Amino acid sequence: MSFPTHRPRRLRRTEALRDLVRETRISTTGLIYPMFVCPGTKVRQAVSSMPGVAQQSVDQLLEECREVESLGIPGIILFGLPESKDATGSSSTHAQGIVQRAVEAIRKASLKLVVITDVCLCEYTDHGHCGVVENGEVANDATLEILANQALSHARAGADIVAPSDMMDGRVAAIRAKLEDHRFENLPILAYAAKYSSAFYGPFREAAQSTPQFGDRRSYQMDPANAREALKEVALDLEEGADMVMVKPALPYLDVIRRVRDHFDVPVGAYNVSGEYAMVKAAAANGWLDEKRAVLEIITGIQRAGADIILTYHAKDVARWLRTPGTNM
Ligand code: PBG
Repeated sequence: MSFPTHRPRRLRRTEALRDLVRETRISTTGLIYPMFVCPGTKVRQAVSSMPGVAQQSVDQLLEECREVESLGIPGIILFGLPESKDATGSSSTHAQGIVQRAVEAIRKASLKLVVITDVCLCEYTDHGHCGVVENGEVANDATLEILANQALSHARAGADIVAPSDMMDGRVAAIRAKLEDHRFENLPILAYAAKYSSAFYGPFREAAQSTPQFGDRRSYQMDPANAREALKEVALDLEEGADMVMVKPALPYLDVIRRVRDHFDVPVGAYNVSGEYAMVKAAAANGWLDEKRAVLEIITGIQRAGADIILTYHAKDVARWLRTPGTNM
């Protein structure tokens, strides 16, 4: 039996009917807002390729954290711009490093936000790679101890979750062991498990001042053509002790998000990255698309693909839009 018995349009006739049968219901409760912290006081330096996003000193960051919390967004992920960089990214592990100070300040302000810290070397190395360089190559094993110490310093500062994004092999195991040794056995690890070598990180590298000074990241981040390999990366990170996994970027990898969701029973995150944000912002500024509709469609798509948690620079706008009665997809 088909037409005219079946008329799918019956359930699309009115707003109320569409609301009733909607399969994917987006909400602010799964969003994480990324933020960039820099040295100084009263600093708020706009990132030109990411309208609305800024590098901020701790005092300014706190103000925005209050706003984020008041919008009902459950958490933030923090990236740091250190005072100094060197070959091994040593400032990333200091108790008084930029991210560590920011986390302590957020804790002192008794905000309820879940504070996630990005664990990586690229913002802290003078060459901009995510690991230490030996003989012109990014050395895997020599990087692990530094990453583990960085994660431990974030834990000591009061981070709620650490999120390694460097894509070195074995980093989750190294971090898990270090946390265990220092009585942080309850600290969750959100692994950037399937992180692709992507053109869409361009604006972020301006924001985080982390552009590699030679070569690229293809020897450690994943090849965009590979999806089976993402399942292997996720399986390894879970075996090593990750509690949650992430796929990054989001939009060109919705199929990967879906596969990871179907294969594993852990929370799955997706990072709607800087280049994805910049494209929407640029088109909207030109009047080429309706920003609100485009963003809500993007967030719905990422959630429909299977993401439980979405890291997005649109989080504050989405939260505001979802507060407006009658707003949904
Ligand atoms: C690396 C890191 C990157 C992003 C998050 N963590 C950039 C990179 O791998 O070059 C990208 C985030 C974005 O583009 O929004 N620490």
